[in-house]
Amino acid sequence: MVYDRRPDDMVRITTPELADAFIEEQLQALRDQIGDRKVLLALSGGVDSSVVAAMLIKAIGDNLVCVHVNHGLLRKGEPEQVIEVFRNQMKANLIYVDATDRFLDKLAGVTDPETKRKIIGGEFIEVFAEEARKLDGIEFLAQGTIWPDILESEAGIKAHHNAGGLPEDMKFELVEPVKILFKDEVRIVGERLGLPAGMVYRQPFPGPGLGVRCPGAITRDRLEAVRESDAILREEFAKNGLEGKVWQYFTVVPDFKSTGVKDGKRTFDWPCIIRAINTTDVMEVTVEHLSDELIDHLVKRIISEVPGINRVLFDYTPKPPATVEYE
Ligand code: XMP
Repeated sequence: MVYDRRPDDMVRITTPELADAFIEEQLQALRDQIGDRKVLLALSGGVDSSVVAAMLIKAIGDNLVCVHVNHGLLRKGEPEQVIEVFRNQMKANLIYVDATDRFLDKLAGVTDPETKRKIIGGEFIEVFAEEARKLDGIEFLAQGTIWPDILESEAGIKAHHNAGGLPEDMKFELVEPVKILFKDEVRIVGERLGLPAGMVYRQPFPGPGLGVRCPGAITRDRLEAVRESDAILREEFAKNGLEGKVWQYFTVVPDFKSTGVKDGKRTFDWPCIIRAINTTDVMEVTVEHLSDELIDHLVKRIISEVPGINRVLFDYTPKPPATVEYE
């Protein structure tokens, strides 16, 4: 059956067997709900939308249409992974939209953090709605709503954006197959549906993506420096057994330059800030203290491999007073 709320007596899904039982029941419920009609899904590559996609591909195959919007602010390798996993391996009906230029053109010269966030969110809905209008016969919109989203919206902590803020004239029935699950349950279910561990156990990543880690007006070269340094940090954390252990880690490239020297010549380049934090509820966070060896290695790699960086700084500030992200 399709549950509207998490039953009070529902057993927490902690084992592969419990996940398989949930999947089997939900696949049947989805088939009953949807029949041979079509479902649209905005597939970001994040944990929740990926698990919803994997579930619906199993339930209704080609009648699920996934749209992956690349806003140009994704991490290195992310759009490629979405295409590889969903189109190539799971044979999903996937529309890939590279909207990088569109987003970066709109963001050019915009320095105010909240305005940047609004532009990214608004443009995302516009691109997604444009794609949806090109399709015929879509009756459902799938969403990766999870149980804490519902609880938080009921408690007035955060708005739960039903239908993703789509224009008024676009009316779809909602399909929310992981709506009664907690995050840890979503991850187990995702694994059992065959998603790569790197996808279901990945660290949180904000909707506005690298845009909030490129403070001030985003330029393509500084954004590239954020993306490359982030890729190095992730690679080194994985190699050093910190992946899956540290809650969140990333780099920020602020919009100022300082003097340096390379090969006997003066340089004038950006610093790269490394932030690695731990938390349980993201209301309060503590800093992960890295080993001296790892710090030295990260500094060496980033200054030698990332164009435009001549200095590496570490942000050892807890929250409060500093938020996790810079904007
Ligand atoms: P802050 O910066 O508020 O971040 O201390 C707390 C957590 O939330 C993530 N975050 C976001 N997640 N959309 C998201 O989906 C957003 O706009 C957003 N902003 C921050 C942040 O990465 C951290 O895990």
